[in-house]
Amino acid sequence: MTVTILAIESSCDDTSVAVLRNGYILSNLIANQDIHMAYGGVVPELASRAHQANIVPVTDLALREAGISTRELNAVAFTRGPGLLGSLLVGTSFAKGFALALNIPLIDVNHLHAHVLAHFILEKENEDKVPSFPFLCLLVSGGHTRIIVMRDYLSMEVIGNTIDDAAGEAFDKCGKVMGFPYPAGPLIDKLAKTGNKNAFVFSKPSVKGLDFSFSGLKTSFLYFLRDKIVKDPCFIENNRADLCASLQGTIVNILINKLVKAAQITGIKEVGIAGGVSANSALRDAFIGEGGKRGWKVYIPKVSYTTDNAAMIAVTGYYKYLQGQFAGHDVIPLARL
Ligand code: KG4
Ligand code: ZN
Repeated sequence: MTVTILAIESSCDDTSVAVLRNGYILSNLIANQDIHMAYGGVVPELASRAHQANIVPVTDLALREAGISTRELNAVAFTRGPGLLGSLLVGTSFAKGFALALNIPLIDVNHLHAHVLAHFILEKENEDKVPSFPFLCLLVSGGHTRIIVMRDYLSMEVIGNTIDDAAGEAFDKCGKVMGFPYPAGPLIDKLAKTGNKNAFVFSKPSVKGLDFSFSGLKTSFLYFLRDKIVKDPCFIENNRADLCASLQGTIVNILINKLVKAAQITGIKEVGIAGGVSANSALRDAFIGEGGKRGWKVYIPKVSYTTDNAAMIAVTGYYKYLQGQFAGHDVIPLARL
């Protein structure tokens, strides 16, 4: 049986469309929205408008790059949530129209589930390197920080969650304080490479169990800089690399400590990281190092599958298709799931 899925991702500020056949990715196109950079964060109204402008040309290109005609598609998968409602509405409405016109099933996908299943996207070079179940995954993105146990493709148990900000938000908000454009995570990662991670100490949260908190770190970073700038107005410019390395080191430390705890509690040794922040080089290094010490089999997605992409929506849609889990045309997007 050949199953070919067209997938649409529009939960935040990236319009992405992918085509997947039997678990193998054929195309995965992303139109980024630079318009938000000037505002220091995503402006929901502008994001929806940009999705509306991008979605048809990106779909067209994704089908062409995959060499697939619409007649060959078996289903249309789309991100139902969580995300920005206006952005989700564009993808949901487009997917409904597409599925209706072709008379094929519609599949709704949870964006967080998809970030984790990014590990199961098949490519010729990785087909024997996907995780087996149970699979423990740290999902770290701009909106979420969770520890998840997957018992199979479709059963997801959240065993740890942030009680306030997400790890990506900590990168982005602290970066904003240093005057960096949004999203600040990638720039902090780059600048930290030449800095000393022990140069400055920021407060670490003490949250029980497997939950996280990042709002205290953000505040401590802000107050630390405010005090330093009083004595030296050029403190940020003069200490940029060390500030980035120390901040990044603190965030990575918080994440890895909880992941180690989760692996001890669950006894799971198939362990992965996912989501936009899993592109971070210090997190990747620390994760590989910790996994090596503890006998984990570690899984890190390709950088292009860490940040928002439709390939992960397609692979989730594929496993839902195999189980016959389809959505009705009365399905509505949800900002929170
Ligand atoms: O998964 P994602 O694309 O969107 C959400 O679902 O939120 O994640 C975006 C987040 C942003 O906060 C961005 O700053 C962060 O991922 N990010 C990074 C890196 N690349 C992206 N954070 C740290 N280091 C990076 N290299
Ligand atoms: Zn995401």
